[in-house]
Order: sequence, then structure tokens, then C-alpha cells
Amino acid sequence: MNQDQELREKAMNRVKEYQDIVNLDPYRLYYHIMPPVGLLNDPNGFIQWKGVYHLFYQWMPFKTGHGAKFWGHYSSEDLVNWRHEEIALTPSDWYDKNGCYSGSAVAENDLLHVFYTGNVRDEEGGRETYQCLAVSKDGISFEKQGVVARLPEGYTAHFRDPKVWKKNGRWYMVLGAQTERLEGRAVLFTSTNLKEWSFLGDITGSNTEQLDEFGYMWECPDVISLGGKDVLIVCPQGLKAEGFHYQNAHQSGYFVGELDERKPEFKHGEFEELDRGFDFYAPQTTKDESGRRILVAWMGVPDQNEQHHPTIPNQWVHCMTLPRELTLNNDKLIQKPIQELRTLRRDEKNTKVSLHQAAEKLDIDHPEKTELFITPQLIEEGFEVSFRGAARLIYNKADGTLTLERNSCVDESTEVRHCRLNELRDLNIFLDSSSIEIFVNGGEEVFSARYFPYPGNNHVWIIARKDIIINVTSWTMS
Ligand code: FRU
Repeated sequence: MNQDQELREKAMNRVKEYQDIVNLDPYRLYYHIMPPVGLLNDPNGFIQWKGVYHLFYQWMPFKTGHGAKFWGHYSSEDLVNWRHEEIALTPSDWYDKNGCYSGSAVAENDLLHVFYTGNVRDEEGGRETYQCLAVSKDGISFEKQGVVARLPEGYTAHFRDPKVWKKNGRWYMVLGAQTERLEGRAVLFTSTNLKEWSFLGDITGSNTEQLDEFGYMWECPDVISLGGKDVLIVCPQGLKAEGFHYQNAHQSGYFVGELDERKPEFKHGEFEELDRGFDFYAPQTTKDESGRRILVAWMGVPDQNEQHHPTIPNQWVHCMTLPRELTLNNDKLIQKPIQELRTLRRDEKNTKVSLHQAAEKLDIDHPEKTELFITPQLIEEGFEVSFRGAARLIYNKADGTLTLERNSCVDESTEVRHCRLNELRDLNIFLDSSSIEIFVNGGEEVFSARYFPYPGNNHVWIIARKDIIINVTSWTMS
């Protein structure tokens, strides 16, 4: 058996060995993507190809920690029902032996091409990085083609996560990078044939003309064109918390502007965060066959207490966000849950909640798998929604703050995240057994978070000190 076969067999044995333990975990999600065992992080290679959506993911099957990642693989016809496919890539070659790290997919000449970073650690603990290609005829089994781009001068080996696209007949690849002065950057390569790539330079980053100090490393960039603009989505590491901003261990957001690939130069505005919650990182988008731009992110953040998740003793950790459709409105990214999710709706209930100094328990059959749509008719001062004793959403009309609180999984403390609104028009909330995603005002703001209610605590309350009248629609998701 070669190294690739050995790793596959070992991983699948681990899936088999632990499936009962994993599947009995009360925090297994009902309608989110998660690993069959072990650790999942970034979404990779997201594409719709020949009618089928493929979503690969960073997978460590052997433990609930990081290490030599595989590319796990899910496929779907509708972005709602997912099938776990055979392993796409194993860290079995000299150029990827310490991890087939994040990357992307494009289709060309009837072949699916995936680009990923080969992570290599040498004996002294030093790091090497290689940008690699693998191709597939059926979208399931991949043939590695080896290294297609190497580390240019001036950067450290923290140089990874290729995202590839085609424009005017040429291919481009954006990568996350760190300069030798420890500045985070997004860099560009180009190619005419997907095999030979040449380095163009950086397009923006920390300590450049347009940005002061802005992080020591940038990860998982994605360049998309939307509404006539170019958008760079990227994950800067090393930003200091600032008021409501940059509260997570690492950040994820975007710049809107105009990219001139040939120079290369990206003229852009300010950095905006993509999510206001606790757990959102490494988003990746694809343009599907219907022309929609769809985003999926890891509902986790590196270096953020993952060993305290209560799923760890049951040998798995992390999940993806729901897929969201992106649009650009006045240079602001709007995220809406993809409409296919409506096919999961069952047992619609409509309630008018009218309260004054009171609390009302919502009549919900399965708060561990529920969608809520809340439209306020009248709010005198504010209100809160309490989710299964483990998280609260609090709206304060006077200062326009919307706050998500959750019980920490590290200790008895409460953690908070906020955003500011001009008004509150609607809330679309997706509850799964251990996740909550809140789309505010048609997706102008989103809070994504894991939460771990005590199984059996099934109460969702609406609470108000002054007058409120709120319409609530709920569905069981199944
Ligand atoms: C982001 C990241 C990527 C890297 C991958 C490794 O979460 O650190 O930069 O490719 O995870 O799993």
C-alpha cells in the first residue's frame, strides 16, 4: 500500500470506529455540515460543476486538533442535502506531507482543477509552502499534479490558500501572505494554462499605501466581482480589538474597490467585518450555474478555545455556516440564507407577541432545529430573545445596539458581541442543535455562533420591559 492508500484507510477506520460515539453527541447538527469524526475547519474548493455542488473541507480525521490536513468532501444537488464523499486529498507527498491546506476549485476542459497549499515542516521545525494542483475527471477522485507555484522573495513561508478565477481569458490566483517584516498581504499570480504561474506582486495589505498596520498575516483571500465592483474577502490576523470591532481571536471581512490585475493594484475602501458573532472565519465563495455568488464559512475561529467545546470528548469539533447568497448594496455586502433552505421548513406557526413588562414563551416544537422570522410592529424601548438558556439576543432601541450574548464554554462567564443598527426591520434566525445564525434586516448584518444549550432546555422566550408588538413565524427544519 502506498502512503495515500494507507492514510485513506486509517482515516476511514477512524470514522467507523467512532461513528457511534460521534452520532450520539447531543450537539450533532441537523442541517449544517460537520466532520464525520475529528476536526473540520475551512471550506475549500467550493464549486458547482455539472450541476453538482462540491464543498471540500480542511479535515483532521485523527484527532480534534490541527495538523496534517486532508481535503474531506461533501457533494449536493441543492446545497441543503449533502452526501459525504470519499477523501479528495491526503497529505501523502513530499510537497504536502504536513497538510493539504486550503484552496479552491475551477473547471476547465472537462476537468475539475483544485489548487491547494502543500504545507511542509522540515526537521528543524521550519516551514515550507508549495502551491499545488490536482485534477479530477469525475469530481470524486483526484490525481495530484504536484507543485505549480513557489514562494517568491520577500515573504515568509506563511503563504497559502490559493483562490483561482478567470478574467478576460487569463487565470489569476490570489493568496494570503506574510512579508519578511511580518506584514499581512494579499498577493497575485497569473497563468494562461493553469500549470505555469508567474508572480505579479501584492495587491494590498498591512503597511501599504492604502492601509497602515493591519495584521501580521492574511489568510484565505477571495476576489469576486459583484455589482460592478471588485471585492477582496480576507482574514487578517493580529488586529487589535477596537470598540465593537475585531472581538474574535482573528478577523474576517472585506474591502470593496477596483482591481487592476495587470499592474497589479487594488484601490479600495475601508475594511468591513463580515460577521458580528463569535464564530466565523475563512469564508469561501463560488458563482454557481444560476449566477448567484454563494458564501460558506467555517463556523469557528483559529486559536479560540476550541478544546473547550463540549463535543471534544465525543471526538469531533466544528461545523460550517449555512450557505449564503451575497449581493453588494452601496458597497456593503448583504448575506441572505440561500432560498433552497426553505425546502426544510415544516409546520409553520404564526404568533403575534404583544407584551408589556412580561415574558412570553414561544410555542416552538423543536428549538434544536428551528427557523424564526421576527418582524417588530412596535418597540417602545427594546426586547430580548432568550434561546434555550444558553444565548440571548438583546435589542436596545435608544442606542440602536443589537447584542448577542452566550454562555462561555470555557467558564461560567457570559460573552458578548454587538453591532449598531439604524433601525430593526426583521430578524431571520436559524437554530440548530449547537449553532445560531441571525440575519438582521434582510442580511445587512449577521451574527454566527456556536452555542451549547443543556439538552432538554427547550425554551425560547421573548422578554420586554416596555411595550412591544412583534410578529413571529416559526418553522421546524427537517
Ligand atoms: C485558516 C487556515 C488556512 C490554512 C488552513 C489549515 O483557518 O489556517 O490559512 O490553509 O487553515 O488548515
